[in-house]
Amino acid sequence: MNNILPVNSTTPEKIVPSFIPYCQHSIEQEEIQEVVLTLKSAWLTSGPKTRSFEKNFADYIGCEHAVAVSSCTAALHLGLSVYGIGAGDEVITTPLTFCATAEVIEYQQAKPVFVDIEPETFNIDPNLIEEKISSRTKAIIPVHYGGIPCDMSAIYDIADKHDLKVIEDAAHALGSIYQNKKIGSFGNPTAFSFYPTKNMTTVEGGVVTTNDAEIAEKLRVLSLHGISKDAWKRYSSEGQWYYEVHHLGYKYNFTDLQAALGIQQLKKLDNFNSIREDYAKVYFDALKDVPELQLPQLYHDYFAGLRKDGFKNSWHLFVVMLAPNRLKIDRAQFIQELKTRGVGTSVHFIPLHVQPYYAKKYSYKEGDFPVAETVFSKIISLPLYPKLTADEIERIISIVKELVEDFHI
Ligand SMILES: Cc1ncc(COP(=O)(O)O)c(C=O)c1O
Repeated sequence: MNNILPVNSTTPEKIVPSFIPYCQHSIEQEEIQEVVLTLKSAWLTSGPKTRSFEKNFADYIGCEHAVAVSSCTAALHLGLSVYGIGAGDEVITTPLTFCATAEVIEYQQAKPVFVDIEPETFNIDPNLIEEKISSRTKAIIPVHYGGIPCDMSAIYDIADKHDLKVIEDAAHALGSIYQNKKIGSFGNPTAFSFYPTKNMTTVEGGVVTTNDAEIAEKLRVLSLHGISKDAWKRYSSEGQWYYEVHHLGYKYNFTDLQAALGIQQLKKLDNFNSIREDYAKVYFDALKDVPELQLPQLYHDYFAGLRKDGFKNSWHLFVVMLAPNRLKIDRAQFIQELKTRGVGTSVHFIPLHVQPYYAKKYSYKEGDFPVAETVFSKIISLPLYPKLTADEIERIISIVKELVEDFHI
């Protein structure tokens, strides 16, 4: 007899919950509308909307000037460039960062000099900076890891003492607060990122903030080919055909289409950040007592209310660490298991000194930055973004706990 039923027709359908990606942006109708309006307007690239966005961003941060550029990488590069940091100079930074932080130093033919991190915050350890300062040192680039503000007063003291510039990498720190002031408002060039994984997005894009009008103007000029004042206006009715190139500039400008996204996203940033913090607290409460896991000491201090010093994490990342010798599987296997069970994760970051480019060029080797290496060996960043639902956060927590249960020693 012919079996007319498909082979599996009697098997109950297995409902596979959908994969939870590591990151997702939150673009809604308001952003789409603003982009469409901009597309229908007479101006697409850097123009009036970019200027409005810059004004709104500066107001949000509480700084004098915000110069929007094509990425945070560009913002960092301009920060070095505006101070004339170049060949033969040294710039101090952390090894536990994205390659962008150090590559901009290389663009200027200067040398990145790494300083190990604090085990509690994963930020550059100010106590170790001075021993790395030489006569060639010109600047420090602190990176606010995962949105956790660096110990800026210690860093400023060192910078003042040794006459160094400070350029902050605030790619993760949109909305972070240090001593009651937003990161980016302290005056020195501070670079933000609007890459889609960040706390708000303009697809690609960044901003550099400063309180110095002259620096802001230089940043603006450098971001558009080094062309004299108001280069962006040269095709408008107010503009003029004549221009001069006084500096070697870059094509780092931000477009009005990106600004359209930015204007709407910025309005939602505080709400995005408070959802991030709420979810971070749910993760923290659920995972803090699991012996196979460790959470950064800063998270313990933060949620215990011990950071009452006008300090706010933007919760760009939520990082868990695998406790040593507690699991039968290693970190890579743990990540693979999470993926198989439906959770995307990431690792922030592979320390730069072990990356082949830097290891080879500067003869760095394993053991040079023990804290960064130990932290790196244990960390996993869990999904944390406003688009996640409370149910998804609970699902991630139960998958993590289930994994620990299945593989604990
Ligand atoms: C710490 C850090 N700095 C800089 C950047 C570069 O940002 P962008 O992609 O906007 O150039 C990133 C990007 O992920 C980052 O994580």
